[in-house]
Amino acid sequence: MKNIVKEYTNGEVTIVWKPSLCTHASFCWRELPEVFDPKKRPWVNAKGVGTERIIQQVKRCPSGALTHYMNDKKNEDMEETKNCSCGSAEVIHNGPLVIKSCICVTQEGKKDEEHPQGTAFCRCGHSKNQPYCDGSHMQHPFENK
Ligand code: FES
Repeated sequence: MKNIVKEYTNGEVTIVWKPSLCTHASFCWRELPEVFDPKKRPWVNAKGVGTERIIQQVKRCPSGALTHYMNDKKNEDMEETKNCSCGSAEVIHNGPLVIKSCICVTQEGKKDEEHPQGTAFCRCGHSKNQPYCDGSHMQHPFENK
Protein backbone atom coordinates (compact mmCIF):
# COMPACT_ATOMS: atom_id res chain seq x y z
CA MET A 1 0.00 0.00 0.00
CA LYS A 2 3.06 2.25 0.33
CA ASN A 3 3.02 3.70 -3.18
CA ILE A 4 -0.63 3.43 -4.10
CA VAL A 5 -2.08 6.64 -5.52
CA LYS A 6 -5.72 6.82 -6.59
CA GLU A 7 -7.36 9.68 -8.45
CA TYR A 8 -11.03 10.60 -8.70
CA THR A 9 -12.28 13.44 -10.88
CA ASN A 10 -15.45 15.31 -11.72
CA GLY A 11 -13.84 16.62 -14.91
CA GLU A 12 -12.82 19.92 -13.31
CA VAL A 13 -10.94 18.94 -10.16
CA THR A 14 -9.15 15.69 -9.35
CA ILE A 15 -8.97 14.31 -5.83
CA VAL A 16 -5.70 12.46 -5.18
CA TRP A 17 -5.69 9.82 -2.43
CA LYS A 18 -2.52 8.28 -0.99
CA PRO A 19 -3.72 5.62 1.46
CA SER A 20 -0.29 5.10 3.01
CA LEU A 21 -0.46 8.64 4.45
CA CYS A 22 -3.98 8.31 5.86
CA THR A 23 -4.25 8.45 9.68
CA HIS A 24 -8.01 7.76 9.62
CA ALA A 25 -8.85 11.00 11.35
CA SER A 26 -12.14 10.71 9.42
CA PHE A 27 -12.68 14.39 8.67
CA CYS A 28 -13.49 13.60 5.04
CA TRP A 29 -16.31 11.11 5.42
CA ARG A 30 -17.77 12.74 8.53
CA GLU A 31 -17.85 16.21 7.01
CA LEU A 32 -18.63 15.39 3.36
CA PRO A 33 -20.36 11.99 3.10
CA GLU A 34 -21.73 12.91 -0.32
CA VAL A 35 -18.20 12.48 -1.66
CA PHE A 36 -16.34 10.28 0.83
CA ASP A 37 -17.96 7.02 1.94
CA PRO A 38 -15.61 4.29 3.16
CA LYS A 39 -18.41 1.70 2.87
CA LYS A 40 -18.69 2.16 -0.91
CA ARG A 41 -16.39 1.16 -3.76
CA PRO A 42 -15.00 3.34 -5.04
CA TRP A 43 -15.10 5.18 -1.74
CA VAL A 44 -14.75 8.60 -3.42
CA ASN A 45 -17.54 10.05 -5.58
CA ALA A 46 -16.03 13.20 -7.05
CA LYS A 47 -19.38 14.13 -8.56
CA GLY A 48 -21.16 14.19 -5.19
CA VAL A 49 -20.91 17.99 -4.73
CA GLY A 50 -19.43 21.00 -6.50
CA THR A 51 -15.76 21.64 -7.08
CA GLU A 52 -15.35 24.41 -4.49
CA ARG A 53 -16.82 22.26 -1.71
CA ILE A 54 -14.53 19.37 -2.68
CA ILE A 55 -11.47 21.62 -2.51
CA GLN A 56 -12.55 23.01 0.85
CA GLN A 57 -12.88 19.50 2.30
CA VAL A 58 -9.68 18.10 0.80
CA LYS A 59 -7.78 20.98 2.41
CA ARG A 60 -9.12 19.82 5.78
CA CYS A 61 -7.35 16.43 5.46
CA PRO A 62 -4.88 16.50 8.37
CA SER A 63 -2.56 13.78 7.11
CA GLY A 64 -2.04 14.94 3.54
CA ALA A 65 -3.51 11.67 2.26
CA LEU A 66 -6.00 13.72 0.27
CA THR A 67 -4.82 16.45 -2.08
CA HIS A 68 -6.22 17.86 -5.28
CA TYR A 69 -5.32 19.53 -8.52
CA MET A 70 -7.34 21.44 -11.08
CA ASN A 71 -7.46 19.40 -14.26
CA ASP A 72 -6.58 22.33 -16.49
CA LYS A 73 -3.52 23.14 -14.39
CA LYS A 74 -2.25 19.68 -13.51
CA ASN A 75 1.39 20.20 -14.42
CA GLU A 76 1.82 23.87 -13.64
CA ASP A 77 -0.01 24.32 -10.36
CA MET A 78 0.74 21.32 -8.15
CA GLU A 79 2.68 23.33 -5.58
CA GLU A 80 -0.04 25.91 -5.27
CA THR A 81 -2.82 23.42 -4.71
CA LYS A 82 -1.22 20.98 -2.30
CA ASN A 83 -2.29 21.01 1.34
CA CYS A 84 0.45 23.04 2.90
CA SER A 85 0.54 26.07 5.12
CA CYS A 86 4.03 25.90 6.56
CA GLY A 87 4.50 26.21 10.26
CA SER A 88 0.89 26.09 11.38
CA ALA A 89 -1.17 23.82 13.59
CA GLU A 90 -4.83 23.65 14.48
CA VAL A 91 -6.43 22.31 17.64
CA ILE A 92 -9.68 20.67 16.61
CA HIS A 93 -12.48 21.03 19.15
CA ASN A 94 -12.87 17.61 20.81
CA GLY A 95 -10.44 16.23 18.23
CA PRO A 96 -6.79 15.97 17.26
CA LEU A 97 -3.97 18.48 17.02
CA VAL A 98 -3.51 18.97 13.30
CA ILE A 99 -0.05 19.89 12.04
CA LYS A 100 -0.34 21.51 8.62
CA SER A 101 3.22 21.40 7.40
CA CYS A 102 6.01 18.87 6.94
CA ILE A 103 6.98 17.21 10.21
CA CYS A 104 9.26 14.34 11.21
CA VAL A 105 8.19 12.35 14.24
CA THR A 106 10.77 10.81 16.55
CA GLN A 107 9.79 8.18 19.08
CA GLU A 108 12.19 6.88 21.71
CA GLY A 109 15.07 8.54 19.93
CA LYS A 110 14.33 6.94 16.57
CA LYS A 111 12.95 8.83 13.60
CA ASP A 112 9.60 7.24 13.09
CA GLU A 113 8.07 8.81 10.02
CA GLU A 114 8.16 11.88 7.87
CA HIS A 115 4.83 13.48 7.06
CA PRO A 116 5.48 15.82 4.12
CA GLN A 117 2.08 17.44 4.32
CA GLY A 118 1.49 17.23 8.06
CA THR A 119 -0.46 14.86 10.25
CA ALA A 120 -2.92 14.73 13.15
CA PHE A 121 -1.90 13.86 16.71
CA CYS A 122 -4.32 12.21 19.10
CA ARG A 123 -5.39 14.27 22.11
CA CYS A 124 -8.08 11.95 23.44
CA GLY A 125 -5.76 9.06 24.33
CA HIS A 126 -7.90 6.42 22.60
CA SER A 127 -6.16 6.11 19.23
CA LYS A 128 -4.83 2.64 18.44
CA ASN A 129 -2.21 4.30 16.25
CA GLN A 130 -0.51 6.56 18.80
CA PRO A 131 0.64 9.24 18.62
CA TYR A 132 -1.60 9.76 15.59
CA CYS A 133 -5.35 10.31 15.51
CA ASP A 134 -7.26 7.37 14.04
CA GLY A 135 -10.75 8.82 14.48
CA SER A 136 -11.36 7.02 17.82
CA HIS A 137 -12.26 10.34 19.44
CA MET A 138 -15.61 9.97 17.70
CA GLN A 139 -16.42 6.99 19.96
CA HIS A 140 -14.77 8.62 23.00
CA PRO A 141 -15.93 12.24 23.16
CA PHE A 142 -13.84 14.49 25.33
CA GLU A 143 -13.75 18.14 26.16
CA ASN A 144 -10.82 20.27 25.04
CA LYS A 145 -8.20 20.24 27.72
S1 FES B 1 -7.97 12.66 19.00
FE1 FES B 1 -8.54 11.39 17.38
S2 FES B 1 -8.22 9.40 18.11
FE2 FES B 1 -7.65 10.65 19.76
